[in-house]
Amino acid sequence: MSTQKKMDVDKNPHRDSPKAQLINNQQFHQELMRFGHARMVPKTPQQDSDWQATLQHNLLMTGREIRFFEQERQKIMHLANEAPSDTLGFLAWFESLRDTGPGQNDALFPWLADHVDESQMRWFIQQEVAGEAGFDDLVALTQLRMPVQAKLEMARNYWDEMGRGSEQGMHGPMLDATVRELNISDNTPDNAVWEALALGNMLLAAAFNRRYAYHSVGALGAVELTAPSRSVWVAKALQKLNISKSGSLYFKIHSTVDIRHSKDWNREVIASLVDGNPDVAQAIAEGALMRLNAGARCFDRYRREFGIISPETYIHGPSHELIEDNK
Ligand SMILES: [Fe+2]
Ligand SMILES: [Fe+2]
Repeated sequence: MSTQKKMDVDKNPHRDSPKAQLINNQQFHQELMRFGHARMVPKTPQQDSDWQATLQHNLLMTGREIRFFEQERQKIMHLANEAPSDTLGFLAWFESLRDTGPGQNDALFPWLADHVDESQMRWFIQQEVAGEAGFDDLVALTQLRMPVQAKLEMARNYWDEMGRGSEQGMHGPMLDATVRELNISDNTPDNAVWEALALGNMLLAAAFNRRYAYHSVGALGAVELTAPSRSVWVAKALQKLNISKSGSLYFKIHSTVDIRHSKDWNREVIASLVDGNPDVAQAIAEGALMRLNAGARCFDRYRREFGIISPETYIHGPSHELIEDNK
């Protein structure tokens, strides 16, 4: 990190003290992630016997979730406002995020491929897995009541996530194999940095709350757009550490299959939705930028952990300390 850049970032009036940020964000995102996961677990009425208490808890936590989401929106709003609302212009802008979006071409990834040792790789994967919201479930939630053309592409994408009906080809369990190969046993929210949890919380908030359905479309599209380049480096790093084929398969697959997923998502989901209603373009743009900015914040944190000297790429905005419950 250059001294000049660091000084500029520290002068940001919106930034809270590093210590306060660490304590508050860590606890906040651990609790939000536990809530997000618990909310999705199938239950019987007996397992959720005090439904009024659950309802009250849901109200409290959903309020926190939405306030966090709105703060994340504010950070990238100035960039989202630059997105054109005509379909062709919007698509070109969206695709340009692959090169120019927050966190793209981050120095972390070539460093991983060249220098990471096994314990550093274990830590990195532990973070990535703890913040993983499950792309399959995010797509399933996002597709609810979407127009047919977008819904069909989401179904095809979901089917690929499901290994096209074969357990061996499912993407989720492939990541579990990486976790096993690296002997990671503590990939819970308690063992992850808040930046990784915040990324998962942002994706889940978008997919679960219908007011952010189009943000979710943009965020998931940004994942497909940018995953291949990162996955190539991570697969290389795993190969260098002599991790078995099954242990690196998740990253090998995503370095290629997401190139197709991204093209299909942009054409069938994003273009068709913007064509049908140009008003949704702004929300799609915000969702994509929020996802990329949350990723950039993780890369900054990981680089700090590994001592990699490189400028910060995360766009700072209002601090998380603004999150308070309405009394
Ligand atoms: Fe996948
Ligand atoms: Fe994909």
